[in-house]
Amino acid sequence: MSRKKLNIGLFGFGCVGFGLYEVLQKTPGLKADIKKICVKNQNKPREIGAENFTFDKNDIFNDPEINVIVELIDDADAAYEIVTTALKSGKAVVSANKKMIAEHFEELLELQRKHNVPLLYEAACCASMPIIRNLEEYYDNDLLESIQGIVNGSTNYILTKTFKENLSYEEALKEAQEKGFAESNPILDTGGFDAKYKLLILLAHSFGYIARPEDLLNIGINNIGGLELKYAREKGLKIKLVAQAFKNTDGNITAFVIPKFVDSNDRLFNVDDVFNGVITKTSFADEQFFVGKGAGAHPTASAVLSDISALSYDYQYEYKKIAQQEDYSLSDAVNLKVFLRHQIEDAVTLKKHFSAIDESYLNHESGYITGTISLENLRNIHFDESIDKSFVLLDIA
Ligand SMILES: NC(=O)c1ccc[n+]([C@@H]2O[C@H](COP(=O)([O-])OP(=O)(O)OC[C@H]3O[C@@H](n4cnc5c(N)ncnc54)[C@H](OP(=O)(O)O)[C@@H]3O)[C@@H](O)[C@H]2O)c1
Repeated sequence: MSRKKLNIGLFGFGCVGFGLYEVLQKTPGLKADIKKICVKNQNKPREIGAENFTFDKNDIFNDPEINVIVELIDDADAAYEIVTTALKSGKAVVSANKKMIAEHFEELLELQRKHNVPLLYEAACCASMPIIRNLEEYYDNDLLESIQGIVNGSTNYILTKTFKENLSYEEALKEAQEKGFAESNPILDTGGFDAKYKLLILLAHSFGYIARPEDLLNIGINNIGGLELKYAREKGLKIKLVAQAFKNTDGNITAFVIPKFVDSNDRLFNVDDVFNGVITKTSFADEQFFVGKGAGAHPTASAVLSDISALSYDYQYEYKKIAQQEDYSLSDAVNLKVFLRHQIEDAVTLKKHFSAIDESYLNHESGYITGTISLENLRNIHFDESIDKSFVLLDIA
């Protein structure tokens, strides 16, 4: 098959944008050239000549030779404008912006159909790891039962530091920020929102279910404190931020992001630093485990490169699972075994929400309960801002 020549209009020349420039330089076999780069800050020094840049997006949109838009900016609202404008004008798009994709999934799907133009976003989900393409192509006929994993590099780096170097959560976060692995306002990562956006994308490609971000519960690592770290260390466990979706006993799907204790038998136990790891379970293949770098200039650019290459032979997601129209809904009908840290004065009230209690501990200022709780009760406690607490998942009950 002869491959299409791609003329790229690139938005963003930061960590991933420049990374893409470098990997394209080293991939001469791919007939893809960056024709123009649109950035924002007119005063920033650039790694390459000024003639490559524009500050006006219309210089890209109005160029008839540009047939691919690669959107690698850090502003989800501006990215939405860029991506929708491109799709409406019939230009293929590659994006790495999970927040933008998750928030507008349905509309972006419609635009692709209406204008018969592809939008690829492998880098938006676990950066270098080719999980979306695998879900789309490989598990097409093998019934998927569950997908779970570590999908956020920054929080995994913070948690790894916490356990390897015996740091508190606050100390590990500070170090991650100093090294540039966590934003100065890190709540999108530490609050589990970034992981939720990726889970939403995975849900669509694995089960064909399109959720809205507000439908999915995300509990981050930002409340993790001394008691749960002590509990983990004493038992030889680690805490990982795990996003998961699985078929429920009632035939529907349960999906959430909650920190989880993992033991050394768990495949996710050794997924450390900025690595991501995803475990799929299907009816015939059984368990499979993907691991790869979940952040960084070149690893992320490699997924963008792969999408660009796929466009050169007119690849587009077929959204096969959505097309199969399985009538799933999201369900909270599941019981979870959890660890709940709480203030002393809340112990009696919180215990009432558990259907079984395995352990209950109190010291002079706080305590924890381990036991079985419904996802619905967990959700209600999580959203009650008057309660100072932290949940860590032990298992699905
Ligand atoms: N970094 C990673 O490891 C990683 C991994 C997976 C996915 N991603 C995703 O990749 C995307 C880019 O991330 P990044 O880390 O490369 O960000 P970054 O280093 O902060 O760079 C952002 C770039 O976007 C440009 N920009 C911002 N608003 C713009 C606008 N309205 N028009 C044109 N350009 C604009 C900035 O321009 P100036 O240069 O003029 O400031 C800058 O070049 C994000 O969606 C991120 O979530 C990143």
